[in-house]
Amino acid sequence: IALLPTDYTIRPLRRSDYKRGYLDVLRVLTTVGEISEDMWNQRYDWIASRNDEYYMLVVCDGADRVVGTGSLIVERKFIHTLGLVGHIEDIAVEQGQQGKKLGLRIIQALDYVAAQVGCYKSILDCSEVNEGFYIKCGFKRAGLEMAHYY
Ligand code: ACO
Repeated sequence: IALLPTDYTIRPLRRSDYKRGYLDVLRVLTTVGEISEDMWNQRYDWIASRNDEYYMLVVCDGADRVVGTGSLIVERKFIHTLGLVGHIEDIAVEQGQQGKKLGLRIIQALDYVAAQVGCYKSILDCSEVNEGFYIKCGFKRAGLEMAHYY
């Protein structure tokens, strides 16, 4: 298990993380858009009300700024005798904080939650450039992603 640098913490997302730079961390991943605090609060409350389905983690530095994040969404199936599948989404580490094992630590924490809640596997989609990172996290290539944009 990778350790966090001294003073860094990993914990569930909080409503107040809007003010700790959460959305800026996500901007290393893709377009975030303009999200007002009201918009944030509405979406945060919706997610928080599904607390056995959405597990969103953040890593904070010593100054309590968000520097990394990752999410696990637990899907409830009929197949595999009501099996649970973890979907790992939106893993992002701030540019200047990459290479310190924060990404690995986030994946380990989400994997731990997935196993604890009873998922039989966790899956994710990523680009080829990130394959090496996920292999180091214990994942292996399986299947092919297809997308239909609207
Ligand atoms: N290719 C190959 N190996 C990699 C890569 C890569 N792209 N990135 C990291 N690694 C290796 C590291 O060298 C390290 O190896 P080591 O143990 O031998 O030293 C190991 O993987 C762990 O790396 P971390 O330091 O934990 O990686 P980091 O904290 O930088 O996080 C991440 C990796 C999340 C990909 C980060 O670079 C990032 O935020 N990138 C931009 C956003 C992004 O692409 N996110 C993933 C989208 S896919 C999804 O969300 C499901």
